[in-house]
Amino acid sequence: MNNEEKISDLREKVIASPRKVSVARTRLEWLFDDNSMEEIGSEVLHRSYDFGLDKKRFPGDGVVTACGLVDGRPVFAYAQDRTILGGSLGEAHARKISKLQDLAMQSGAPFVAINDSGGARIQEGVDSLGGYGEIFRRNVLASGVVPQISLIMGPCAGGAVYSPALMDFVGMVDGSSYMFLTGPKVIKTVTFEDITVEELGGGKTHSATGVANLLFQSDKEAIDQTRKLLGYLPSNNRESPPFLETKDSHERMDVDFHELVPADPKKPYEIRQIVDLIFDKDSFFEVHKIWAENLVVGFARLGGHVVGVVANNPGHLAGVLDIDSSRKGARFIRTCNAFNVPLVSIVDVPGFMPGRHQEHGGVIDHGAKLLYAYCEARVPKLSVILRKAYGGAYIVMSSKHVGGDINLAWPNAEIAVMGAAGAVEVLNRREIKAADDPLAKTEELKEVYDTKFLNPDIAASRGYLDAVIEPHETRRKLIRYLEILHSKREWMPPKRNANPPM
Ligand code: HXC
Repeated sequence: MNNEEKISDLREKVIASPRKVSVARTRLEWLFDDNSMEEIGSEVLHRSYDFGLDKKRFPGDGVVTACGLVDGRPVFAYAQDRTILGGSLGEAHARKISKLQDLAMQSGAPFVAINDSGGARIQEGVDSLGGYGEIFRRNVLASGVVPQISLIMGPCAGGAVYSPALMDFVGMVDGSSYMFLTGPKVIKTVTFEDITVEELGGGKTHSATGVANLLFQSDKEAIDQTRKLLGYLPSNNRESPPFLETKDSHERMDVDFHELVPADPKKPYEIRQIVDLIFDKDSFFEVHKIWAENLVVGFARLGGHVVGVVANNPGHLAGVLDIDSSRKGARFIRTCNAFNVPLVSIVDVPGFMPGRHQEHGGVIDHGAKLLYAYCEARVPKLSVILRKAYGGAYIVMSSKHVGGDINLAWPNAEIAVMGAAGAVEVLNRREIKAADDPLAKTEELKEVYDTKFLNPDIAASRGYLDAVIEPHETRRKLIRYLEILHSKREWMPPKRNANPPM
């Protein structure tokens, strides 16, 4: 046997050893590039004696912690092993994770957590709780420094869901992953309520609550998509996201822009079709796909550069802004700003959703989150108004007034405090009542209002819009402006911490 054969033989034996083979280890091997994974702390043991734990010691203490490469870039990751004490987190298990978080932060490399755990290890009491506190604090320290992605791959409870909630992205696997603070068994003993794990905290449930940003059909898909997601993010906040040369022409112009957006501002259409036309072919990676579909957000590439897309979707609730879409947009914009991802906003918005449910649900507070996020973002901010931008939603959606760098509009874009019907109702009620033919009078007044306000001319003449462009020019114009703005630097006043309405 030559040296290489000996190494290969040894490796086979190591892989074949039952102690080394586990679902947790396999998940991490899928995550990292072939042969690049190195484990850290695989021999660590817990040192608890209570409740018979002295007879249940397992090397690694129920979590595999490792570093390796993803597409050639360093990443730190851990995977919990549900077959060992339910993947529960005791003192030693927690120390392994905290050490990995420190290494990720100090090395400026992303941190990926594969959670499959019943939460704090009950037998270890306060040591388990303290262990979670250490992890949570490091999640917060790392927030905005290195990307943090959590994948839920099993029933996860307590701290095993709070740490993910502090991270940038949470992915779940449909039908096999669950998130809750307390599981059905504990709920039954406290409130006598019967509820299944799926109902309580399944993938679909949390895609609808907004807790999960990403929903996958299998563990393998979750990991493959996480590798893809990492490709849109820089390793840390001092770097730019990876540039990827595109075969899609920068100068591509499509007549479909004219056909897919109906001229009537009340007619619905699916904004994802427009997103696909504007950005590099097949580059759109949608986040929070199932939640608040009236606002579509995700990463894409434009001329090879990564951008964050924020697009009103007239195909769902007319594209109105409401509580959930404001929360969704704000969260995504802050993630982009943290990691130097320029923002491109595609605007077609009738305003904020009126109504008791929204007002009592705190739309003032939640809407302010989106406004805050746009005002605070210092990355390049580009926008295109396709059809309409009314009222508060005009201001919020990356307008010049909240710091938009380049604001474009299509020739028929309507910018006004509100649509003609609402405006005439407020301004001309008496005049209409006194008219011989109130209906004809209403139409006449709406016509006057439309001519005056419902076009981009006034905004362009004030410089609130930088250019009125033909729809088919949208892609090439955005690429040109983006490439020039790429080196943009903007400063914020020094402060201890910003105080968003979170
Ligand atoms: C110790 C645990 C455990 C835990 C599960 N196990 N959770 N051991 N501490 N927290 C063990 C079980 O005893 C069992 O061991 C094995 O793991 C598998 O558990 P099952 O219940 O049989 O599995 P399943 O039916 O799939 O249910 C999974 C579960 C349930 C829904 C997660 O185990 C559960 O509800 N666990 C408790 C969840 C919880 O309330 N955790 C504490 C949260 S407080 P054996 O030996 O029988 O195979 C917390 C503090 C931080 O985390 C809070 C921050 C806000």
